[in-house]
Amino acid sequence: MESIIARLEAIEEGALKEIKAAQTIEQLESLRIKYLGRKGEVTTTLRQLGKIPSEQRPLVGKKGNEIKEKIQLALEEATEALKQKIAAEVKHIDVTLPGRRAYSYGTLHPITQVMREICDIFLRLGFDIAEGPDVELDYYNFEALNIPPHHPARDMQDTFYISSDVVLRTHTSSIQIRVMEKEKPPIRIIAPGAVYRCDADVSHTPMFHQVEGLLVEKNVSFSQLKGILTTFMEAVFGEGIGVRFRPSFFPFTEPSAEMDISCVICGGKGCRVCKGTGWLEILGCGMVDPAVFEKVGYDPEIYTGFAFGLGVERIAMLKYGIDDIRLFFENHLGFLKQF
Ligand code: DAH
Repeated sequence: MESIIARLEAIEEGALKEIKAAQTIEQLESLRIKYLGRKGEVTTTLRQLGKIPSEQRPLVGKKGNEIKEKIQLALEEATEALKQKIAAEVKHIDVTLPGRRAYSYGTLHPITQVMREICDIFLRLGFDIAEGPDVELDYYNFEALNIPPHHPARDMQDTFYISSDVVLRTHTSSIQIRVMEKEKPPIRIIAPGAVYRCDADVSHTPMFHQVEGLLVEKNVSFSQLKGILTTFMEAVFGEGIGVRFRPSFFPFTEPSAEMDISCVICGGKGCRVCKGTGWLEILGCGMVDPAVFEKVGYDPEIYTGFAFGLGVERIAMLKYGIDDIRLFFENHLGFLKQF
């Protein structure tokens, strides 16, 4: 019995000391749980009442209840005192000060800003803007671009199928076909828009944006393509940017190339972002494949053209030094407000 009473007294002393030192209402609440809660120190100690002789129980029980009440009272007093202190501080708030402004003005999303910048540059280079549907026929997304059913190139893009012949467009190249079906050369368009692929990690989101370009006339050359794209990269990243073209493969262009720019992070010395190469892959391009012209009824003996496709998020990431594409779509104001 002595030992239980002694323990209760020790708990009381400790509790009162801690309550006195508490600075916030939250601290007081956790002290209440610590001492008086269902698993609190007073409660668990009193549960051992069953272990002592029955004639001594009333005395220990009474002591226990007294201690509980004391702690309870101390908690209430301390809470009340804190509340008054807070209320007194509130009185010092100067209500004549101007309020903090809410974000009352919206700004354009960084992807919209970069998209517009890209379009502006091409508009100045004499291109018009063309559009097409996000929900697209397999024919425009694949078939007419020289990607027949079962062609391995379909595996390069993890397509969202709506039905067997309707997809969410995996690239804006589909718009090339829609434009050529409706119009006769000369054609000089860019096609900006959202595209969809079933893919998600630091450099892929299921929805992202591309700008497709298409130029068709008589006697178009690969060097014209290089000239336009080099001018474009200089406009986005500055005159000093280095560029190079590597042979590649796309079903709708022949020959095809990938364009690299010198690493905008390290200036070409080699770093983590360019994996030590000094170069960054930036877009795909090439001369329009005669098979594509045949699909839209253009005579490939008369007309030639070039096409290119670039990722808007990729350009925005390099421009602003962002290393995770998902940041664009998480809608954290702290991130978005920086642009
Ligand atoms: N459509 C390709 C893609 O999404 C990009 C592309 C590559 C477009 C080469 C082109 C091109 O017009 O010529 O990966």
